[in-house]
Amino acid sequence: MVTAKRVSGLLVLFSSMSYAQTTPPNIASLESEAVERIALFANTLKSELGEAIQQGGLVAGIDVCQMKAPAIAESLSINGWKVARKSSKNRNPNNKPDGWEAEKIAELLDMLRNSESIENVTFSTTRDGQFRFAKAIKVAPVCLACHGEKISPEVKQALNNHYPNDLATGYKLGDLRGIFSVSKTLETP
Ligand code: HEC
Repeated sequence: MVTAKRVSGLLVLFSSMSYAQTTPPNIASLESEAVERIALFANTLKSELGEAIQQGGLVAGIDVCQMKAPAIAESLSINGWKVARKSSKNRNPNNKPDGWEAEKIAELLDMLRNSESIENVTFSTTRDGQFRFAKAIKVAPVCLACHGEKISPEVKQALNNHYPNDLATGYKLGDLRGIFSVSKTLETP
Protein backbone atom coordinates (compact mmCIF):
# COMPACT_ATOMS: atom_id res chain seq x y z
CA MET A 1 0.00 0.00 0.00
CA VAL A 2 2.30 2.65 -1.33
CA THR A 3 -0.29 5.42 -1.25
CA ALA A 4 -1.17 4.84 2.37
CA LYS A 5 2.50 4.99 3.27
CA ARG A 6 2.87 8.23 1.34
CA VAL A 7 -0.11 9.76 3.01
CA SER A 8 1.06 8.86 6.48
CA GLY A 9 4.53 10.09 5.56
CA LEU A 10 3.04 13.42 4.54
CA LEU A 11 1.03 13.59 7.73
CA VAL A 12 4.17 13.08 9.76
CA LEU A 13 5.89 15.78 7.74
CA PHE A 14 3.00 18.23 8.20
CA SER A 15 2.57 17.59 11.89
CA SER A 16 6.27 18.01 12.56
CA MET A 17 6.24 21.22 10.50
CA SER A 18 3.35 22.66 12.40
CA TYR A 19 5.01 21.57 15.63
CA ALA A 20 8.13 23.46 14.65
CA GLN A 21 6.12 26.58 13.80
CA THR A 22 4.07 26.60 16.99
CA THR A 23 5.83 28.48 19.71
CA PRO A 24 4.43 27.39 23.05
CA PRO A 25 3.00 30.31 25.06
CA ASN A 26 5.58 31.93 27.30
CA ILE A 27 3.75 31.60 30.61
CA ALA A 28 6.22 33.66 32.62
CA SER A 29 5.86 36.65 30.32
CA LEU A 30 2.06 36.30 30.19
CA GLU A 31 2.03 36.25 33.99
CA SER A 32 4.12 39.35 34.31
CA GLU A 33 1.98 41.15 31.74
CA ALA A 34 -1.14 40.14 33.69
CA VAL A 35 0.37 41.50 36.91
CA GLU A 36 1.19 44.74 35.11
CA ARG A 37 -2.36 45.12 33.82
CA ILE A 38 -3.77 44.50 37.31
CA ALA A 39 -1.45 47.14 38.79
CA LEU A 40 -2.52 49.63 36.11
CA PHE A 41 -6.20 48.91 36.75
CA ALA A 42 -5.82 49.16 40.54
CA ASN A 43 -3.70 52.30 40.53
CA THR A 44 -5.76 54.17 37.95
CA LEU A 45 -9.01 53.40 39.76
CA LYS A 46 -7.49 54.20 43.14
CA SER A 47 -6.36 57.65 42.05
CA GLU A 48 -9.64 58.46 40.26
CA LEU A 49 -11.63 57.29 43.28
CA GLY A 50 -9.44 59.14 45.79
CA GLU A 51 -9.74 62.36 43.81
CA ALA A 52 -13.53 62.06 43.47
CA ILE A 53 -14.01 61.36 47.18
CA GLN A 54 -11.76 64.28 48.11
CA GLN A 55 -13.70 66.64 45.87
CA GLY A 56 -17.27 65.43 46.19
CA GLY A 57 -17.40 62.90 49.01
CA LEU A 58 -18.42 59.24 48.94
CA VAL A 59 -21.49 59.76 46.77
CA ALA A 60 -19.26 61.26 44.06
CA GLY A 61 -16.97 58.27 44.59
CA ILE A 62 -19.83 55.92 43.78
CA ASP A 63 -20.42 57.73 40.49
CA VAL A 64 -16.75 57.41 39.62
CA CYS A 65 -16.72 53.68 40.43
CA GLN A 66 -19.77 53.14 38.28
CA MET A 67 -18.45 55.15 35.32
CA LYS A 68 -14.73 54.60 35.55
CA ALA A 69 -14.22 51.02 36.77
CA PRO A 70 -15.75 49.41 33.66
CA ALA A 71 -14.11 52.05 31.40
CA ILE A 72 -10.63 51.43 32.84
CA ALA A 73 -11.14 47.66 32.53
CA GLU A 74 -12.21 48.18 28.91
CA SER A 75 -9.20 50.36 28.10
CA LEU A 76 -6.85 47.61 29.34
CA SER A 77 -8.70 44.93 27.39
CA ILE A 78 -6.87 45.12 24.07
CA ASN A 79 -4.83 42.74 21.89
CA GLY A 80 -6.73 39.69 23.10
CA TRP A 81 -6.44 40.65 26.78
CA LYS A 82 -9.42 40.97 29.09
CA VAL A 83 -9.19 42.64 32.48
CA ALA A 84 -11.96 42.57 35.08
CA ARG A 85 -12.86 42.49 38.77
CA LYS A 86 -15.08 39.63 39.84
CA SER A 87 -16.92 38.82 43.05
CA SER A 88 -19.56 36.30 44.10
CA LYS A 89 -20.95 38.96 46.43
CA ASN A 90 -20.98 41.67 43.77
CA ARG A 91 -22.40 45.13 43.45
CA ASN A 92 -22.58 45.17 39.68
CA PRO A 93 -24.05 41.89 38.36
CA ASN A 94 -21.69 42.17 35.35
CA ASN A 95 -18.92 41.29 37.79
CA LYS A 96 -20.29 37.83 38.49
CA PRO A 97 -17.55 35.18 38.29
CA ASP A 98 -17.52 32.40 35.70
CA GLY A 99 -16.74 28.77 36.64
CA TRP A 100 -12.94 29.08 36.84
CA GLU A 101 -13.16 32.41 38.72
CA ALA A 102 -15.70 31.04 41.20
CA GLU A 103 -13.37 28.08 41.83
CA LYS A 104 -10.44 30.40 42.61
CA ILE A 105 -12.63 32.57 44.88
CA ALA A 106 -13.66 29.43 46.78
CA GLU A 107 -10.00 28.40 47.14
CA LEU A 108 -9.08 31.85 48.48
CA LEU A 109 -11.96 31.74 50.97
CA ASP A 110 -10.73 28.32 52.14
CA MET A 111 -7.24 29.73 52.64
CA LEU A 112 -8.63 32.63 54.68
CA ARG A 113 -10.62 30.18 56.81
CA ASN A 114 -7.37 28.32 57.46
CA SER A 115 -5.73 31.62 58.47
CA GLU A 116 -3.37 31.46 55.47
CA SER A 117 -2.17 34.71 53.92
CA ILE A 118 -3.72 35.43 50.51
CA GLU A 119 -1.85 38.71 50.00
CA ASN A 120 0.47 37.48 47.27
CA VAL A 121 -1.48 34.51 46.01
CA THR A 122 -2.05 34.32 42.28
CA PHE A 123 -3.49 31.61 40.07
CA SER A 124 -2.75 30.96 36.44
CA THR A 125 -3.63 28.35 33.91
CA THR A 126 -4.05 27.83 30.18
CA ARG A 127 -7.22 26.13 29.05
CA ASP A 128 -9.45 26.19 25.98
CA GLY A 129 -6.99 28.42 24.13
CA GLN A 130 -6.98 30.99 26.91
CA PHE A 131 -4.38 32.09 29.41
CA ARG A 132 -6.10 32.91 32.70
CA PHE A 133 -4.80 34.71 35.75
CA ALA A 134 -6.39 35.73 39.05
CA LYS A 135 -5.30 37.67 42.11
CA ALA A 136 -7.09 38.29 45.41
CA ILE A 137 -8.61 41.66 46.34
CA LYS A 138 -8.84 42.20 50.08
CA VAL A 139 -10.95 44.70 52.00
CA ALA A 140 -8.85 47.64 53.25
CA PRO A 141 -10.02 50.38 55.66
CA VAL A 142 -10.96 52.79 52.83
CA CYS A 143 -13.33 50.22 51.31
CA LEU A 144 -15.56 49.97 54.37
CA ALA A 145 -17.50 53.19 53.77
CA CYS A 146 -19.01 51.65 50.64
CA HIS A 147 -18.64 47.89 51.24
CA GLY A 148 -18.65 47.55 55.03
CA GLU A 149 -21.18 46.75 57.72
CA LYS A 150 -21.96 50.34 58.73
CA ILE A 151 -22.82 52.47 55.73
CA SER A 152 -24.08 56.03 56.10
CA PRO A 153 -27.69 56.70 55.03
CA GLU A 154 -26.66 58.95 52.12
CA VAL A 155 -24.23 56.35 50.76
CA LYS A 156 -26.85 53.66 51.21
CA GLN A 157 -29.33 55.79 49.28
CA ALA A 158 -26.90 56.44 46.42
CA LEU A 159 -26.01 52.74 46.24
CA ASN A 160 -29.69 51.84 46.17
CA ASN A 161 -30.30 54.22 43.30
CA HIS A 162 -27.50 52.80 41.17
CA TYR A 163 -27.50 49.16 42.28
CA PRO A 164 -30.90 47.85 43.39
CA ASN A 165 -29.47 44.31 43.67
CA ASP A 166 -26.29 45.24 45.53
CA LEU A 167 -24.72 42.23 47.29
CA ALA A 168 -21.43 43.95 48.10
CA THR A 169 -21.98 45.26 51.61
CA GLY A 170 -21.39 43.72 55.04
CA TYR A 171 -17.68 43.12 54.41
CA LYS A 172 -15.15 43.30 57.25
CA LEU A 173 -11.53 44.43 57.19
CA GLY A 174 -9.34 41.71 55.66
CA ASP A 175 -12.23 39.88 53.98
CA LEU A 176 -11.89 38.71 50.42
CA ARG A 177 -13.71 41.35 48.34
CA GLY A 178 -13.15 39.56 45.05
CA ILE A 179 -10.47 38.94 42.45
CA PHE A 180 -8.75 40.68 39.63
CA SER A 181 -9.29 38.38 36.70
CA VAL A 182 -7.17 38.65 33.58
CA SER A 183 -7.28 36.50 30.48
CA LYS A 184 -5.68 36.42 27.06
CA THR A 185 -6.77 34.55 23.99
CA LEU A 186 -3.75 32.55 22.85
CA GLU A 187 -2.81 32.56 19.20
CA THR A 188 -3.94 29.47 17.38
CA PRO A 189 -1.11 27.64 15.65
C1 HEC B 1 -17.12 55.43 47.11
C2 HEC B 1 -17.60 54.10 47.28
C3 HEC B 1 -16.65 52.93 47.10
C4 HEC B 1 -15.47 52.72 47.76
C5 HEC B 1 -14.80 53.60 48.81
C6 HEC B 1 -14.99 51.44 47.29
N1 HEC B 1 -15.86 50.91 46.37
FE1 HEC B 1 -15.71 49.08 45.45
N2 HEC B 1 -17.33 49.50 44.35
C7 HEC B 1 -18.08 50.65 44.43
C8 HEC B 1 -19.05 50.67 43.35
C9 HEC B 1 -20.05 51.75 43.07
C10 HEC B 1 -18.85 49.47 42.62
C11 HEC B 1 -19.56 49.00 41.37
C12 HEC B 1 -18.74 49.39 40.14
C13 HEC B 1 -19.34 48.93 38.84
O1 HEC B 1 -20.50 49.26 38.57
O2 HEC B 1 -18.61 48.24 38.10
C14 HEC B 1 -17.77 48.77 43.28
C15 HEC B 1 -17.28 47.55 42.84
C16 HEC B 1 -16.20 46.91 43.39
C17 HEC B 1 -15.69 45.63 42.91
C18 HEC B 1 -16.19 44.82 41.73
C19 HEC B 1 -17.08 43.70 42.14
C20 HEC B 1 -18.48 44.16 42.45
O3 HEC B 1 -18.83 44.11 43.63
O4 HEC B 1 -19.23 44.57 41.53
C21 HEC B 1 -14.63 45.33 43.71
C22 HEC B 1 -13.76 44.09 43.64
C23 HEC B 1 -14.48 46.42 44.65
N3 HEC B 1 -15.46 47.36 44.44
C24 HEC B 1 -13.49 46.49 45.59
C25 HEC B 1 -13.27 47.59 46.39
C26 HEC B 1 -12.13 47.70 47.28
C27 HEC B 1 -11.08 46.63 47.51
C28 HEC B 1 -12.21 48.93 47.86
C29 HEC B 1 -11.22 49.56 48.83
C30 HEC B 1 -9.82 49.60 48.42
C31 HEC B 1 -13.39 49.60 47.34
N4 HEC B 1 -14.01 48.75 46.45
C32 HEC B 1 -13.83 50.86 47.71
C33 HEC B 1 -17.97 51.65 45.38
C34 HEC B 1 -16.88 51.80 46.23
